Amino acid sequence: MTAPAASSYTASPFVGRTFGVTVAGLNKNFGRTAVLKDINLEVKPGEIFCIMGPSGSGKTVLLKHIAGLEHATSGEVRIGEFDAADPETRNKVHLALVFQAGALFNSLSVYDNLALYPREHRQCNEAGIRERVLHALSILSLEKAANKFPSDLSGGMKKRVAIARALVMEPQLLLYDEPTSELDPVMSATLTEIIATLREQTAVTSIVVTHDRDLAFNIADRVAFMMDGRIQGVGPRADFKTPADPVIANFLNPVIDLKNPRFKQLE
Ligand SMILES: Nc1ncnc2c1ncn2[C@@H]1O[C@H](COP(=O)(O)OP(=O)(O)OP(=O)(O)O)[C@@H](O)[C@H]1O
Ligand SMILES: [Mg+2]
Repeated sequence: MTAPAASSYTASPFVGRTFGVTVAGLNKNFGRTAVLKDINLEVKPGEIFCIMGPSGSGKTVLLKHIAGLEHATSGEVRIGEFDAADPETRNKVHLALVFQAGALFNSLSVYDNLALYPREHRQCNEAGIRERVLHALSILSLEKAANKFPSDLSGGMKKRVAIARALVMEPQLLLYDEPTSELDPVMSATLTEIIATLREQTAVTSIVVTHDRDLAFNIADRVAFMMDGRIQGVGPRADFKTPADPVIANFLNPVIDLKNPRFKQLE
């Protein structure tokens, strides 16, 4: 791999603005099943906002509505002044979603996965793209993986590639779905630091769906807790360390009881 060409890199005119997100009266049904039930949230510009809650409670579906990938049954999501469901919004806001499973293109190398978005959007020439891609790879310590294919990577490396790909998009709104799942404790801590550092450096609004208490309790400005398609509680992270709500407390601090194990109650 050769060094990046002399700088032809031009910062996107989008960078520098950051967006808040408003979710108002959002309902989503799949067939007859109500998956999101009257969700109301206000994420402030530049905030790290964590969404926690049990598996199946609707966190990913909510994130997809913010990303404009799902359309509401009723209610709306706004990114700044723009309607998240309007395809034009993607031309006005640089939004990146780091998917739960990475969603990399298996037929493309890591380098080409990262270069895809700026190439398709003709954001800069190949030398500028190269500079951006190599910079993102270096932030995630992935320089040696540039020419590998996703099938050659570990789960943790795929996660980091997915985040590097989001960085190349120079996002003003970053949505992460379980960024630290499947990672070892050190890599989870590293990714937590990366999410916080990115927000420090670019003021990017960061919405993080996570089961990772260490992440939420260390870097979230606020946390929302979802339960069965509803918001059960919202507040600063300190409120969730010793939650007053017993439902949230039981979820975040489950007691392992070998005399009366939970799984026997499932029978
Ligand atoms: N496209 C779809 N069609 C039908 N049902 C769906 C669809 N997408 C999600 N669901 C259902 O919506 C519910 C919420 O799913 P979601 O993926 O948002 O859960 P989650 O909170 O992200 O869970 P996890 O923590 O396991 O990722 C689930 O019951 C799921 O089966
Ligand atoms: Mg999910």
